[in-house]
Amino acid sequence: MTGDDDADDATAGTPVERAKAALAALSADGDASDSTSPPEPTEPANPVVAVAPGRVNLVGGHTDYNDGLCLPMAVDRHVAVAARPRDDDRLRVRAADFDETAELAPDDDPDGWAAYVAAVARVLREDGPVGGADLAIASDVPTGAGLSSSAALELAVGRVLLAVSGRDLPTADLALACWRAEREGVGVECGILDQFSAALCEADSALFLDCRTREFESVPVGDDVGVLVIDTGVSHELTESGYNDRVRECAAALDRLRECADRDLDSLRDVDRDLLDAHADALEPVHRRRVRHVVTENERVRRARDALAAGDLDRVGDAMLAAHESLRDDYEVSCPELDAAVELAAETPGVYGARMTGGGFGGSAVALVDADALDRAARTIRDAVPERVGPDANVFACRPSGGVRLVDEE
Ligand code: GLA
Repeated sequence: MTGDDDADDATAGTPVERAKAALAALSADGDASDSTSPPEPTEPANPVVAVAPGRVNLVGGHTDYNDGLCLPMAVDRHVAVAARPRDDDRLRVRAADFDETAELAPDDDPDGWAAYVAAVARVLREDGPVGGADLAIASDVPTGAGLSSSAALELAVGRVLLAVSGRDLPTADLALACWRAEREGVGVECGILDQFSAALCEADSALFLDCRTREFESVPVGDDVGVLVIDTGVSHELTESGYNDRVRECAAALDRLRECADRDLDSLRDVDRDLLDAHADALEPVHRRRVRHVVTENERVRRARDALAAGDLDRVGDAMLAAHESLRDDYEVSCPELDAAVELAAETPGVYGARMTGGGFGGSAVALVDADALDRAARTIRDAVPERVGPDANVFACRPSGGVRLVDEE
């Protein structure tokens, strides 16, 4: 990867504008890998551009890899990827925000952000050709903030790679391909929450997602609902955090419950309160707490989905606050800054509820707010975060957005 000093201005404009500008600069640079190639004889065609959103998860934390339920919402912050086909099989990728360029041959296995691009291309190649391409990436999804910037990158890259290769896939299949890319290529043992959110959420809606059947349904979110993200500024890194430890603890608890239960258990989804109570003593205390979180969290997702559909925002907020307590005490994936952010939001007038969102150990909290009180609540929270949460904390409002899509050129 190379950085250069006279890089495109990585901060001006929308992600789509910046990705297109970065692609134009990349194309103008020529092909460093093949200095004998003749100059482009004709004006290049319009680039293919895709955007994919970050997400918050209202309820349903750490349930996805246990075949459970989630209630995410895509946010109006996006990763944009602009692309033009090449004549060879290489991917030349410009990350405008990092001022870096990577050149990838099909078998390359890079580190860092380029690993996501290479992994998606590798998985898509299993079912058909992926042509070479110049790609440029720009984003306004904060990275390391628990808003799933990596899934947004995967989905946007996947969508443009299919387009420049003359292929298409149903969106849910693209989400699964990107999920495999993250697990196999990047080494996070994640569930499908992030990729399905970045793929399948709809504008002005949350997504009720059953991670066992992979069925999903949009739950409309009215204009009376505001959403605030409180990014603690404490960066989390899933590959280095306790995330994979939690996956293993759940697997160990499931193994133990299978030895005691008198029915088949495919996953922790099959465990309910009665079964847990009956065999609680057989589990190590730490495993008992992990299972209790998963069982009660699935219940909370159903409750929150019904309450959201009925417009009962107080009940949605209660489910979010209870979810946070469970993630903090039973699942132990919160941190002092996230707890402070949730506490601050919960005491702010107009806020229905709040919880940590994403994998935890840092990242962001999400708050559900009365839309009429949103500006005032945002100001109150913004004023208090430096002292209460941390010097790098950042607060912003968002609206539920649609999933990955190609951006139509004029
Ligand atoms: C991360 C993972 C998801 C999910 C959440 C926790 O975002 O990528 O698969 O497990 O954490 O709900």
